[in-house]
Amino acid sequence: MLLAMLYDDMFIRLERARWTLNTDIPFDDIDPSLLSPQWISDLRNICLTELSALYATEMFLRDFYTDIDFCSFVSIWFYEEMKHHLTLRKYLERCGETFDEAELPELRLTFAPGPAIETLTMHFCGEQRLAHWYTAFSEQGPEPVIRKIFKILAADELRHAACYAKYMRRAVANKPEVLPDILKMSLWMMRSTNDAPKHPTTITEPSVVSRLEDPEYVSRMLNWYLPGRDHEAPVQRRILALLSELSGVEIKNLREIPPLVRKLTASKELSPAAA
Ligand SMILES: [Fe+2]
Ligand SMILES: [Fe+2]
Repeated sequence: MLLAMLYDDMFIRLERARWTLNTDIPFDDIDPSLLSPQWISDLRNICLTELSALYATEMFLRDFYTDIDFCSFVSIWFYEEMKHHLTLRKYLERCGETFDEAELPELRLTFAPGPAIETLTMHFCGEQRLAHWYTAFSEQGPEPVIRKIFKILAADELRHAACYAKYMRRAVANKPEVLPDILKMSLWMMRSTNDAPKHPTTITEPSVVSRLEDPEYVSRMLNWYLPGRDHEAPVQRRILALLSELSGVEIKNLREIPPLVRKLTASKELSPAAA
């Protein structure tokens, strides 16, 4: 039986959830006097980090060359991430900030091709984490319009995570032996701290964030707006829920992942099909 592309249904769902730049963001209500120079600087860095969708898209289309379904979804993801960049840039321009387009190509990086399943997993975890950060900024931002923007962006990032989850489910259904790689990558991504936060824009060498005006901005913002070690609990809960679903066993914490990976790898080695 021919399976429908995940993209078809996703397109309709995402279209239904979509917001409109000109009518949903009250740019005329922005009160720049409420923003400190530090907030302006941090918002500039977040705005530029959203541009990383450019290089990620190039790599998705290259590394998922034969996966037309996923590449089709990337067209929506790229559009929405660039919309995040545009929304923040318009907000900052209303506050008197300017951006020099000539400096933007600095942020276009290229990396060696990576295994598709690890890329999917890394982005799934990254979107979950970014939604968590943006939710905190939406609660603690100094100005009502930026609080609203972060709330809207956080919801988009969560929807993106849900789309990556769909492609991970499909990958496991088609090829169950990818499960240990998903588990290992998720564990690595979940071992994140405020001083070394893991997101697709921070973990490469060089990374997008390392090329920004203020590469320390993510850590500093996290230490201010999400202090303490346990704030990641909701991120971990959502990632562990997907891992439990994919592996068919309930995974309650990170410590349960390595034994499960060992068990799955050993059973693969013992099975006659693998030999
Ligand atoms: Fe985004
Ligand atoms: Fe996203």
